[in-house]
Amino acid sequence: MIAVMSDLPVRACVFPVVLALSLWTSPAVADPPTRGESLFATCSACHGAAGMGQPDGPAPVLAGQHERVLIRQLADYRDGTRWDPRMEHVARLRIVERPDDLVALAAFVSHLDASLPAAIGSGAGLDAGARAFVMECSVCHGATGQGDAVRGVPRLAGQHHGYLKRQVQDAVEGRRPRLQASHGPRFAALTALEIDGLADYLSRNARRVAPAPAR
Ligand code: HEC
Ligand code: HEC
Repeated sequence: MIAVMSDLPVRACVFPVVLALSLWTSPAVADPPTRGESLFATCSACHGAAGMGQPDGPAPVLAGQHERVLIRQLADYRDGTRWDPRMEHVARLRIVERPDDLVALAAFVSHLDASLPAAIGSGAGLDAGARAFVMECSVCHGATGQGDAVRGVPRLAGQHHGYLKRQVQDAVEGRRPRLQASHGPRFAALTALEIDGLADYLSRNARRVAPAPAR
C-alpha cells in the first residue's frame, strides 16, 4: 500500500486540492449558462427562475412543458396570433425572433423540474372534476394531464389551479385565441363545479407525471 502511494506522482495528490480551492474561490469556474438559460433570464421576472409562474395565476407554470408545445405557443405570441399584454413585450423585444433561439429556449424550459407543487384548489369539486377530465379531455391530454410530447398536446398537470380555471373560462367566453375549436363545446358543457374541480385535479398531478429533469 505504501509502495503504491509513493509511486503516485505528487501532482496527482495536489491537483484535487488545488481544484477544490479554485472552485471555492472563483465562481467563474461554474458552467457558463446555455443559450436557452440566458434567454430565460428575461422570462423569469414573471415566470420565476424555476419556471413555476405565479401561484395566484396570472403567469403560468412553464417548467416541464413539452418542447413542441412551447415552440408553438411562443411562435403564436411572436406572430400575434395569440395575444396578452404581458407577453406582448416578449414579441416586441424580439427575444424569440430567431428560430434557433426559440428552440434553445423551449429546450431549456422543457427540462426544468416539473415536479414542484403548484397552487391547488379547495378540493370541493375534485371528484366531479376528475371525472369530467377523464371523460372529456384525457383522450388527448392523457389520463393525468401529462400531455403528449410527440403530438404536441400540452401538459396540463402541475399547472396552477387559478391559471387553468381562467384559461377554460376565457375560452368559453371567446377570449382565448389559438385553442383548437373542439375545446369550445367541451368547455361549454362543463358546470362551474366541474371546471373548478378539473383545474384542481390537474394542479395536484405534478409529481405523479413528472419526468426526471435532465439537468
Ligand atoms: C411581464 C410578465 C411576463 C414575462 C416577462 C414573460 N411572460 Fe410569458 N406569460 C405571462 C402571462 C401573464 C401569461 C399568460 C397569458 C394568458 O393568460 O394567456 C404568459 C404565458 C406564456 C406562455 C403560454 C403558456 C400556456 O400555458 O399557454 C408561454 C409559453 C410563455 N408565457 C413563455 C414565456 C417566455 C419563454 C418568456 C421569456 C422570453 C416569457 N413568457 C416572458 C407573463 C410574462
Ligand atoms: C381532441 C384532442 C383534445 C381534447 C379532447 C382536449 N384537448 Fe385541450 N388541447 C389539445 C391540443 C392539441 C392543444 C394545443 C393546441 C391548442 O392550443 O389548441 C390543447 C390545448 C389546451 C389548453 C391550453 C394549454 C396551454 O398551455 O395554453 C387547455 C387549458 C386545454 N387544452 C384544456 C382541455 C380540457 C380541460 C379538455 C377537456 C374538457 C381538453 N383540453 C380536451 C387537444 C385536446
